[in-house]
Amino acid sequence: MKKMIISPSILDVKEDELKEKIKIIEKSAGKWLHFDVMDGKFVPNVSFDSSLLKSIKEYSKLFMDVHLMVEDVEGQVNEFIKAGPDLISFHFEATQYPIRSINNIHRAGLKAGIVIKPETKVNQLKDLFDYVDVILVMAVEPGMGGQKFIKSTLKKIEKLNYLREKENYKYLIQVDGGINNVNAKLCKEAGADILVSGSYIFKSKNINKAIKSLM
Ligand code: DX5
Ligand code: ZN
Repeated sequence: MKKMIISPSILDVKEDELKEKIKIIEKSAGKWLHFDVMDGKFVPNVSFDSSLLKSIKEYSKLFMDVHLMVEDVEGQVNEFIKAGPDLISFHFEATQYPIRSINNIHRAGLKAGIVIKPETKVNQLKDLFDYVDVILVMAVEPGMGGQKFIKSTLKKIEKLNYLREKENYKYLIQVDGGINNVNAKLCKEAGADILVSGSYIFKSKNINKAIKSLM
């Protein structure tokens, strides 16, 4: 069976513990780092900006997975390109011109992802299936960590997986929100490739064990 990619979300990690936690992830089975960007407009909270990503990149070689929860997609995509992540994903609901931003990300040599909120349907993405490297399915309303996984997300993963097999699309399926060792298995069976997890990983006593239990 294929191996899951786990992308630990540092959203709720305390700033003074960040470096220590990232070093633990580097030695663990997790090879990605999920970086949540909130602007206080697309979602009510405000989180990190690109300067934090730049500083993490000075000491970490993990695959940097940026999740933009912002209204100004074009501006923030350009801002984050300069910080040099590996993948930038932005919300489908936030822009009328997704292909323009996908092209900008690709021109910078990075991978591009599109994110959908729980109420957005998979079909709405049909014009983007050929363009994106990753489709990120939110399993909670974006905006904060520690929420409960919405079960109907599994149907969306199944549908994306079915369409990918049928039409030979190349996108990877990523899931974010409320992931734990129980629903991780269901996501994997439904066809997910990448799981984001914040509170389950960082609240556990053994981060490496928690990451492995999601695989
Ligand atoms: C929610 C964020 C998630 C969040 C995941 O808006 O996009 O990445 O940090 O945290 P948990 O795993 O606690 O739901
Ligand atoms: Zn996220």
